[in-house]
Amino acid sequence: MATSMVDRFIDEVRAAVAGASDPAAVVDRVVPLTRALAGDRSWIRPEFYEIDADQGFGIVVLHEEPDGGPGGGFLVETICWAPGRGVAPHDHRTWGVVAGLDGHEINVDWRRLDDGRVAGRAELEKATETVVGPGVVKTFAPADIHSVRNESDRPSLSLHVYGSNLAKLDRSEFNPLAGTEAPCPKRTKRPATAK
Ligand SMILES: [Fe+2]
Repeated sequence: MATSMVDRFIDEVRAAVAGASDPAAVVDRVVPLTRALAGDRSWIRPEFYEIDADQGFGIVVLHEEPDGGPGGGFLVETICWAPGRGVAPHDHRTWGVVAGLDGHEINVDWRRLDDGRVAGRAELEKATETVVGPGVVKTFAPADIHSVRNESDRPSLSLHVYGSNLAKLDRSEFNPLAGTEAPCPKRTKRPATAK
């Protein structure tokens, strides 16, 4: 049954996160789990494709692990990007694993050139681009900076796992043209309607 697949995944991530504090080691454990869930589309529901028009993407939270437990407060969600929409460069301040589910979205990794000593300033240059779609898994270290855009003519959908609840972290958003760093806006999210 579709629901139990996601529940089993959550249990597997909880076990993978427990006892590993190094983000890279945790990511190594979470990648194969995420790839396996993303490889089976039976758990994907139409509600995952509902987009917040103002934001340009829709986030459905599948699981928020409580802080302080063995799972360390990890987060599982889907994000659906509207055609032609995206999100500015930002960091996560925790590890992340993203797997493509449907359609294609362009992930841009940015390299930070300054030392971060001047508050509000940041010099970024594009490093690499990855097209995230079915079969593609992308990982993030806590300080990595990336942006996303959907340049196709249909929505894209991806599965996201983060080491902490992003809504509770003070993250940064960047404007590479202006050379600025500012607090990352809080995203609009909604819980999955059924478990
Ligand atoms: Fe992100």
